[in-house]
Amino acid sequence: MIKKITNKDLEIVNELLQNIDRNEKVSIDMLEHPFFNYVGYTIDEKIVGIIKYSLIYDRIEIDYIYVIPEYRKNKIGTKLIEHVIDVSTRKKNIKILLEVRRGNVVARKLYESMGFKEITIRRNYYGNEDAIVYMGGESDG
Ligand SMILES: CC(C)(COP(=O)(O)OP(=O)(O)OC[C@H]1O[C@@H](n2cnc3c(N)ncnc32)[C@H](O)[C@@H]1OP(=O)(O)O)[C@@H](O)C(=O)NCCC(=O)NCCS
Repeated sequence: MIKKITNKDLEIVNELLQNIDRNEKVSIDMLEHPFFNYVGYTIDEKIVGIIKYSLIYDRIEIDYIYVIPEYRKNKIGTKLIEHVIDVSTRKKNIKILLEVRRGNVVARKLYESMGFKEITIRRNYYGNEDAIVYMGGESDG
């Protein structure tokens, strides 16, 4: 089930985040930050997936999503994105933006399966790899 990350979860969340492709460490200050939102997906109370999104006035940006490898392909990523789409709908259909490496075919398929559309390419954003910027949200279907 969907669960808001709290300071009790910080240790486990930071362990999970060691597997993502950036130096991200969540602190209590970040959990309390007015723009940042950390949401997990739990099975039997164990956090098996996490999404971070920023809600900045009239935009949502998905910063990252991660599902523990042995729990993948069970629609957990889909449920985490659906949660963010629900937030955007409740905020009167504000747009959701995200950016992903061109070569991350799995994540791109996930976003595209949820109606996200490619809007820009940031050439060589990751050194020698492009970033693809996607936009989604309830009103883009
Ligand atoms: C991307 C990620 C979050 C997907 O999580 P998930 O829970 O496995 O995704 P879902 O089960 O909801 O899959 C939804 C869709 O994504 C696509 N997809 C997921 N895994 C896939 C795979 N291994 N190969 C191809 N497509 C795949 C499919 O279109 C799938 O729909 P389908 O099951 O009907 O075929 C997960 O693979 C992950 O954590 N990857 C590492 C972190 C990462 O790259 N994050 C994105 C950048 S921050």
